[in-house]
Amino acid sequence: MEVIIRPDADAAASLVAKIIANEVRANPYIVLGLATGRTMERVYEKLVRMHKEEGLDFSLCRTFNLDEYVGLSPDDPHSYRYYMNKHLFSKINIDIRNTHLPNGMAEDLDKECERYEKLIQKVGGIDLQLLGIGRSGHIGFNEPLSALKSRTRVKALSPVTLEQNAPFFEDKSKMPRRAITMGVGTILDCRRCILLATGEEKADIIAKAVEGPITSMISASALQLHPRCTVIVDEAAASKLQGVDYYKWIFQNEPEWAPYR
Ligand code: F6R
Repeated sequence: MEVIIRPDADAAASLVAKIIANEVRANPYIVLGLATGRTMERVYEKLVRMHKEEGLDFSLCRTFNLDEYVGLSPDDPHSYRYYMNKHLFSKINIDIRNTHLPNGMAEDLDKECERYEKLIQKVGGIDLQLLGIGRSGHIGFNEPLSALKSRTRVKALSPVTLEQNAPFFEDKSKMPRRAITMGVGTILDCRRCILLATGEEKADIIAKAVEGPITSMISASALQLHPRCTVIVDEAAASKLQGVDYYKWIFQNEPEWAPYR
């Protein structure tokens, strides 16, 4: 695992967008794993700008999102399909048929989870997976005690996550309690992972996930097992980390980061 600290949320999102853009340019057929949430909005804004101003081409890319709420249709403004269309897909030149999210309306949810896993395998796996982190330590919707080998399945959302989501739902009774999510094992199979976290409210959970023990209580800690995972944080989200000086040294000295300094 590597930790890269940028001065603020905008610089952190910029770095993530630049890495994605470079990977898309290097492999136009890339399979991207995508996430939703507030943190990612800035990343998508930047990718849209790069598409419009620099001609960043998504026409051959395929995408798989981490998760979708159970019971929400794609045209529900709270669904993740709606979020992705709004923030990214409708603003770039991706072929919408190449964009995939689990179907939270499927009659047989277990079959849908199996279908999603198989589809990821069929395209040869995910090259680059973008991740956020919830206050419960989840990646995707892998809530505490998610098996570290879990695959795509239905998960109940934890009280902490429900509280995190509450501001987005005017009518709390309509808030989904379950979601289909890629498993921790599905995420660990991706060839490269980038976790982005910004803001002080993520500082505690980032310190636990990055520097604490690997535990299913904090799904993001499983990323310590991943051979190529970069955690990108702003100063606020990094504020509880012990190894800040070392992480900054790596960014300043590792040749891989030279183009991004
Ligand atoms: C969303 C997802 C979640 C979010 C996480 C952080 O697709 O997989 O794990 O990335 O809950 O959400 P924000 O960015 O809203 O704090």
